[in-house]
Amino acid sequence: MKRFKFVYSKNEVVGKTAETLHSAFIEHMGRAIYGGIYEPTHPLSDEDGFRKDVLEKVKKLNLSLIRYPGGNFVSGYFWEDGIGPREKRPQKREEAWWSIETNEIGTDEFMKWTKKLNIQPFMAVNLGAGTTESARNLVEYCNAADDSKYAKLRRKYGAKEPYGIKYWGLGNEMDGPWQIGYLSAEKYVEKAKEAAIKMRSVDPTIKLIGCGSSTIDMPTYPEWDMKVLDGLYDYIDYISVHQYFFESTTEADFFASHLAMDDYLATFRSLLNYVQTKHRYKKELYVCFDEYNIWYNNKELPKDYTIAPPILEEQQSMKDLLVFGGLTNSLLNNCDIVKISCIAQLVNVIAPILTKNNGPLLLNSIWYPYFNYCNYLNGDVLKPFVIKDYKFPSKYGEASLLSQSVTVNKEELVIQIVNYAKEDVTVEMGLNGFDNLVLFKHEEIRDDDLNAHNSFAEPYRIVPHEKKNAVKLDGEKIQLKLAKLSYNLIRFKR
Ligand code: AHR
Repeated sequence: MKRFKFVYSKNEVVGKTAETLHSAFIEHMGRAIYGGIYEPTHPLSDEDGFRKDVLEKVKKLNLSLIRYPGGNFVSGYFWEDGIGPREKRPQKREEAWWSIETNEIGTDEFMKWTKKLNIQPFMAVNLGAGTTESARNLVEYCNAADDSKYAKLRRKYGAKEPYGIKYWGLGNEMDGPWQIGYLSAEKYVEKAKEAAIKMRSVDPTIKLIGCGSSTIDMPTYPEWDMKVLDGLYDYIDYISVHQYFFESTTEADFFASHLAMDDYLATFRSLLNYVQTKHRYKKELYVCFDEYNIWYNNKELPKDYTIAPPILEEQQSMKDLLVFGGLTNSLLNNCDIVKISCIAQLVNVIAPILTKNNGPLLLNSIWYPYFNYCNYLNGDVLKPFVIKDYKFPSKYGEASLLSQSVTVNKEELVIQIVNYAKEDVTVEMGLNGFDNLVLFKHEEIRDDDLNAHNSFAEPYRIVPHEKKNAVKLDGEKIQLKLAKLSYNLIRFKR
């Protein structure tokens, strides 16, 4: 049996997780908004048309930020269409996802939804087809307290107090030829700088996120990122990073996704250092990983312009859950630079929550590691000292058969660990400086069939089970027995 050995020490930390780390993304795409969070005819909907069953699940995640309204959608979206009396709002062709946008939900309705959840909005502005002036005006609409034109308009439409939106994305994936109005890095820097200046002239306290690469596979990566950082470092607070991992790759490559994410972030760490040193900047810039997930790239998207067509409504499998756990470990293990991370997306579109129109909701397999990530994995992230590891080959290089993260806060020390080996393994861990731990719970998720998933017919096929007798605690040492191809969350009280 393979015996892995790692040592963690109280004072050897990667960093502290930022409050904003545990965040999400939702877009006007498919049935994420219409039929997802909003369905006024649903028997469970509240007075504003929001589904209470969805609200209840999202509340459980204790999310910090929610990024909105896109995604590719934002690059063709004019926020002015989504305010004011609903009967006057235009119904339009939405050209990023070939749908019809009714504009029934706009900025004010979205803000209502975030208020019910006590989540901070993270608003993206349109730097594709949109102008920098329109981006500026949206900041005035949302954040101005005076009698300026857009602040007055907001009041007229019902919101007396400014929303005070702090986080603003300067466009979306502007490096991608699929993006409406996509730009070269040089042109993007020019447009984003202009937008930043105008937006900050309305509200100097806002935090701005510049567009980084859309994927590791972009031919312009990492040159794009270097140019964006070089030109925008002084104007932004974060650079955004996106990456989806495709379940259609080989199993080994899919299981090595955590390594790919680590490597991607290592490049960003170098770029941030390089540009900061080059310009002698004092200010620190961080990564906002505002789209990450598993993606099934095997389906044609509907292109016949209908309202809220189902798009990418995946029912992720046990295998996807194992990969997803690895991705959240990577985010945690890079928390010194990753300060915001948004699962893409939250409801119906490649999401942990799936709804049926006029019907129930379903929690997909990835809900469980995502729930743990959001609720339990916070505080100091410890750095491992590796004594014995086992690896497997992948297109990204030699990847470890285990992906793990260890977090410590006042109440708990928590280990999230995924075993990609096709055999049971033993893990010995030294936890120096933690001699008073008490095992609270070991939860395991596994299934003999890696393709098994939750479905409306069988909603609880993939769920955590409490595991007994697999953790041996002996002072500052623990020994774990991990089942083959399993996800584990082990919580100790301090
Ligand atoms: O999340 C789905 C899409 O993926 C987003 O709209 C886009 O930003 C990315 O390519």
